[in-house]
Amino acid sequence: MSTVLVLKDIKKEFHGATIFENIHLSILTSQMIAIKGKSGIGKSTLLNIIAGLERPSSGTYFLGDIKMETKNLNQLSEIRKKKIGYISQHSPMIPGLSAFENICVPLWFEKNMNIKNKAMKEITELSRVFEVDHLLHKRIEKLSGGETQRIGIIRSLIHHPEVVVADEPTAALDEETASKVLDYFKKLKSKGIAIILATHSSFVAEHCDETYLLTKNELSHVNTSEKDRKVGMNK
Ligand SMILES: Nc1ncnc2c1ncn2[C@@H]1O[C@H](COP(=O)(O)OP(=O)(O)OP(=O)(O)O)[C@@H](O)[C@H]1O
Ligand SMILES: [Mg+2]
Repeated sequence: MSTVLVLKDIKKEFHGATIFENIHLSILTSQMIAIKGKSGIGKSTLLNIIAGLERPSSGTYFLGDIKMETKNLNQLSEIRKKKIGYISQHSPMIPGLSAFENICVPLWFEKNMNIKNKAMKEITELSRVFEVDHLLHKRIEKLSGGETQRIGIIRSLIHHPEVVVADEPTAALDEETASKVLDYFKKLKSKGIAIILATHSSFVAEHCDETYLLTKNELSHVNTSEKDRKVGMNK
């Protein structure tokens, strides 16, 4: 296993107010981690930094050997296209287009037919795995919240990312459907892909190798015995 990304002493401020600081994190290939924390604490903001959608106010972020905070927004977008599968908390969709057409949006400017063909195969496989194959022709606004969430997940995975950054990817799903998504994430893990997800759900966190708790002052590791103790307390 090798290190996929490292965050060192990351701080984020909005308009002079500190959202979080003192964030350290190191992720390996084939590792799946959960980030928990109360609503509004900054989980999405931290995932946006990891996905290269936002820059930290200070600190260092290496994605492999790329020093991310030195890149401009265009460079970050190119890096994201190649390396990162970003599943957003509220997957933005284009109304009026079908579910399939929405999945294909990242391919609009792709000229390489090899990549396009591979992506088409991936769409066929993933839409079966996530049980939305019968919905691909439907207009996106006719789909339920959970169906739309699964379409968003497929769209984020068709380019074979090295890192999956998933912001509450199963929030709109029942446990059975969420398990299908988590099982697929485990399959990705076995291929060496690193997965970082934000969640409020203990069910989701229990499927991960490690759980971290985000507070304003740190990102702390929730160790296994503490996890077990909490699960025991919930029983
Ligand atoms: N672009 C922005 N400008 C100003 N403040 C922002 C911006 N984006 C996020 N915030 C603030 O940063 C804080 C953290 O927001 P964030 O969405 O990261 O929280 P979260 O932990 O993901 O919450 P939830 O669990 O509800 O999804 C919030 O107070 C939010 O209002
Ligand atoms: Mg959030």
